[in-house]
Amino acid sequence: MSQLFTPLTLRTVTLPNRIAVSPMCQYSATDGHPNEWHLVHLGSRAVGGAGLVFTEATAVQAVGRISPADTGLWDDAHIASWRPVVDFIHAHGSVAGVQLAHAGRKASAHPPFAEHRGGVSDADGGWTPVAPGTDPFHESYRTPDELDAEGIAQVVADFAAAARRALAAGFRVVEVHAAHGYLLHEFLSPLSNHRTDAYGGSLENRTRLVREVTAAVREAVGEDVPVFVRISATDWVDGGWTAEDSVVLARDLAALGADVIDVSTGGNTPAADIPIGPGYQVPFAETVRRKADVPTGAVGLITDARQAEQVLADGSADLVLLGREFLRDPYWPLHAAQQLGVQVNPPKQYARAL
Ligand code: FNR
Repeated sequence: MSQLFTPLTLRTVTLPNRIAVSPMCQYSATDGHPNEWHLVHLGSRAVGGAGLVFTEATAVQAVGRISPADTGLWDDAHIASWRPVVDFIHAHGSVAGVQLAHAGRKASAHPPFAEHRGGVSDADGGWTPVAPGTDPFHESYRTPDELDAEGIAQVVADFAAAARRALAAGFRVVEVHAAHGYLLHEFLSPLSNHRTDAYGGSLENRTRLVREVTAAVREAVGEDVPVFVRISATDWVDGGWTAEDSVVLARDLAALGADVIDVSTGGNTPAADIPIGPGYQVPFAETVRRKADVPTGAVGLITDARQAEQVLADGSADLVLLGREFLRDPYWPLHAAQQLGVQVNPPKQYARAL
């Protein structure tokens, strides 16, 4: 009996299998609006059999975009642009999830495929980012303004407002992006948070913003909708955020209504030395799952059907998220089913390929 192809019910939503498309920026939107690219890109992965299709990091404030070409939900006008994407995913038996994000000091950056690296100037359509303090991520990035108490309260309110818009667009899962050195992770980590107010210093203070955002998103979406929180379980740097901190945070977030902790790592400092290899982040998903007693998602160089099956069979996670492998093969779930000897029907239009 394949675990990978066993449905997963979270609140009122049942994922048909435990394979998710990990959020991946496409740097292809205009003024936050997704377009035909997003429809075809995300839609193909739904046709390919993923149980859950996450959007890319979708900004809750315009200044919270990683690049000028990120998608957004900071404005009611974005709702109509998302609806066809969401409807298509649902029409093909998958579940549409949105990743809500604020890029913090890593905002206003060039896409990786651009000619330039680092920060985008005002003249090229960039802006001044906001962050816990005024240290840039790297000297090539823009120097952020420090958020004051009012600015922090606005971030919380804007995550909640974006979550409400996500439901209006039809999304059935909401993920809060608190990983990879973006705003919420910047508050969590002592490497990037040097504040002396209620949002800096102790672990309790550094986790305050993420806890407030998670509680606000839970309130905004009501009791029916699953909420995921993506964290970086370690900064991979001495003196940074740790797996033990992640266990404490995961427990708190679950109590505030998070259903799944999506466990990634790194991204907060270019200085980190990350031992990348197959399934390299899976042990962190397992630690959080066992020690905090909360469902987890595992991500990071999971590329093979039997490997993915093993992650679930070992009890390391409740679902797997695949990123780059889904860029190589939109039909990965159909191929994985074949390898595992599981009967999964492709869309009827493709039945003759069997
Ligand atoms: C990413 N990743 C990422 N993560 C995230 O939380 N939000 C995002 O918007 C993005 N954007 C993004 C774009 C692209 C092109 C890539 C390749 C990656 C990280 C991604 O979700 C995943 O965690 C990592 O790629 C590791 O998983 P894989 O690719 O080894 O399966």
